Amino acid sequence: MDGTTPQVPTPAVMAALAAYQPGRSLPQALYTSPEAFAADMAKIHRKHWLFAGYGFEIPNPGDWFVYTVAGAEIIFARGRDMKVRGFHNVCRHRGSRICLEGHGHSSVLACPYHKWSYGLDGALLLDTAKEFGVPKSELGLKQVAVADAGGLLFFSIAENPPDFSEAIETIGRKMKPHALHRVKIAHQAEYRVKANWKVVFENNRECYHCPTNHAEYNLTAYDVERDRAVMDPSLLPAIEAIVAKANERFAKLGYDTGDASSNMTGKNWRCHRTPLKEGFVTQSLDGKPVSRLMGDVKEWDSGTLRCTVFPNFWQHTNCDYACAARLTPISANETLVRGYWLVDKDAVEGKDYELPRLLEMWDATNSQDWVICENQQAGISSPAYEPGPYSTLRERNVAHFVDWYLGEMRG
Ligand code: FES
Ligand SMILES: [Fe+2]
Repeated sequence: MDGTTPQVPTPAVMAALAAYQPGRSLPQALYTSPEAFAADMAKIHRKHWLFAGYGFEIPNPGDWFVYTVAGAEIIFARGRDMKVRGFHNVCRHRGSRICLEGHGHSSVLACPYHKWSYGLDGALLLDTAKEFGVPKSELGLKQVAVADAGGLLFFSIAENPPDFSEAIETIGRKMKPHALHRVKIAHQAEYRVKANWKVVFENNRECYHCPTNHAEYNLTAYDVERDRAVMDPSLLPAIEAIVAKANERFAKLGYDTGDASSNMTGKNWRCHRTPLKEGFVTQSLDGKPVSRLMGDVKEWDSGTLRCTVFPNFWQHTNCDYACAARLTPISANETLVRGYWLVDKDAVEGKDYELPRLLEMWDATNSQDWVICENQQAGISSPAYEPGPYSTLRERNVAHFVDWYLGEMRG
């Protein structure tokens, strides 16, 4: 197995996949067993497009960062032609890691062992033909597919990555006003969540839990009202009127319009703009700005551009800041979540934004979600767990995620 070849799930995992009862949560083994975790990595994470980070993190030729996921370490480096490429962090001599830090800058990628050096395009610079009997053209770094969607860097380590072109085009177009090449990371948080990556993603896919868990988030978003309207269609016209009014503004400002739903527009991704609560210009507790306007956004209140990509990314992009999450599965019952808070690159801490205020809404919401996820993982791990039924109204998006997952695992 070379790290990119899908591994057939073991018979035990196949049995768990076969035991799935439609409309219910997954069988226990799929959330808890190391074998199922290995199958997830082979069938999902080593195949699909994953979020790595942002282009602005490596603005200059020679800048690079490393992302480790599903057993693969990938170097993302900006070349002299300004293109970002991804390479396995594996020397073609005897396999050493090349980049030893999480990020850095260098004119070449030099292996620390015997100093074989590679250009920023991955080509080996040493002439190996005579001494090693292999031409250097055969010993370039192994490359992975990288795509830039409006400043978001996605990659796939599959030999034949699935078609992701519609997602790249749509996300790139909708993200454009936020000019993610002219922003910076104001804060980054690493959350170690003692829960399976699917538990974490499923939690993101419904707001049934919001009324009782997210006092802060509920102040800014229509999700709870939307769910109420799903339960009681007589409330729908009020939501639709809010969306129509917001869309009129968005259209005037030249943004793509959207809706209040959290449905996926593609099979495993979505990117659409939703209105904020009336009187709110951003996702803050009082509705007032938390930083200066970001990118090319010229007016307060651009709603929230929600971008979700299975299996490892979501981002809420407002007029003055964006908050994102990158999920890295660590084991069957642990996920590393990196939270990003982005602001305009010229925003100055203490003048344009205060960190506690910038972080308060999403850090509270994230932390509440991780507690929920850890409690769920603990319960799922009990011998008493059996898959429970999803709401046909308020957990449809969880069912969608689970259906996508099962399709990929069985396919
Ligand atoms: S292993 Fe990299 S130069 Fe020898
Ligand atoms: Fe939540």
